[in-house]
Amino acid sequence: MRKDTFEPKLAVTAIADQLGISTQAVHKHLKREGFTTAMAGNKGYITHSMAKRLFSPKFEKKSFAFQIVKGGTGKTTAMYNISCGASIYGAKILVIDIDPQGNATDAFNIEADNTPVLIDVVADGEDIRNCIVHVTEGIDLIPSRIENVVLDSKLAMDKTPLHTFFANLLEPIENNYDFIFIDCPPTMGHAVTAASLYAKTVVVPLNPDKFSAKGLSILKDEINEIKKNYKIGISYKVFLNKFSGNTILSDKTISTTISEEIEKGNALQTAIRQAQEIPNVTDEGLNLFSSLKKSTARDDFDLLTKELLGIDISSLWQNKSNLHVNEEATEEV
Ligand SMILES: Nc1ncnc2c1ncn2[C@@H]1O[C@H](COP(=O)(O)OP(=O)(O)OP(=O)(O)O)[C@@H](O)[C@H]1O
Ligand SMILES: [Mg+2]
Repeated sequence: MRKDTFEPKLAVTAIADQLGISTQAVHKHLKREGFTTAMAGNKGYITHSMAKRLFSPKFEKKSFAFQIVKGGTGKTTAMYNISCGASIYGAKILVIDIDPQGNATDAFNIEADNTPVLIDVVADGEDIRNCIVHVTEGIDLIPSRIENVVLDSKLAMDKTPLHTFFANLLEPIENNYDFIFIDCPPTMGHAVTAASLYAKTVVVPLNPDKFSAKGLSILKDEINEIKKNYKIGISYKVFLNKFSGNTILSDKTISTTISEEIEKGNALQTAIRQAQEIPNVTDEGLNLFSSLKKSTARDDFDLLTKELLGIDISSLWQNKSNLHVNEEATEEV
């Protein structure tokens, strides 16, 4: 398991900001409840296991498939940082990498050469539980490697029913998780269709260019086709990634696309800005939540995570410690 530097962290100051109370009030509450916060420099923070005890979150279990045929729009980056961002609020995440490129596996810094992957389960009857790598507190990964490239043809050859493929596969383990994220390759195929059918919500990062709009149009046609063939409801949520100040105005195609999707309720309000920090942290083997330093990229992903997953820290806190918050909030006035 990866510890310390990689570990996603939630600053006590961020908890205080979200609750609208002072940092001292949060520290006081933590002390009274017997929690010892970890320190990075002079900043107190909590990690997944403490968040779980502190908030006792009850998430509505959901699965998401990150996909769009346009390559490089940010599927893996989003899925990676959202997993890390969700873990600090106490959510338990399973990430399934079905891309033979194995980018999510690399992002988590996991060496998959000696770990069974999906193709080993499908072709050789490997137990799915043996594929799970525990990455860090709150995050498990089913990694991928290049051998998964034959997954599509194997599913086709075996005439595997795609609508039950992941449900059957994950049946022994899915209850252990609050959220399951499937990172898809930028292609359409049996495995990607099976991922959509299982997840029922497809998350689609769009870039401010007309190729993303084209990619979305292809994806929507595909989703409609799947819905028609399988009579299963599948929704999608788009969000804008690699956005910078004036791009949305300068690109008419994408601004029209986003406005239309917002009107239909298929768009997330949060946009992720273009930021060099995003590739940098991954290259360093870290994630946006590893550090407590001021970061607009982390702020963007924090908002996106909470919007996508419906996480509301103040209601989590209220459920747990109503009296104390009221008492501290009054003290603060
Ligand atoms: N908001 C951002 N700002 C700057 N760089 C970004 C941002 N989002 C993603 N990137 C970078 O863009 C590149 C492509 O991102 P990523 O690999 O997540 O895309 P993808 O959609 O998963 O690609 P593929 O289709 O190959 O699976 C990566 O180098 C990533 O670090
Ligand atoms: Mg990817």
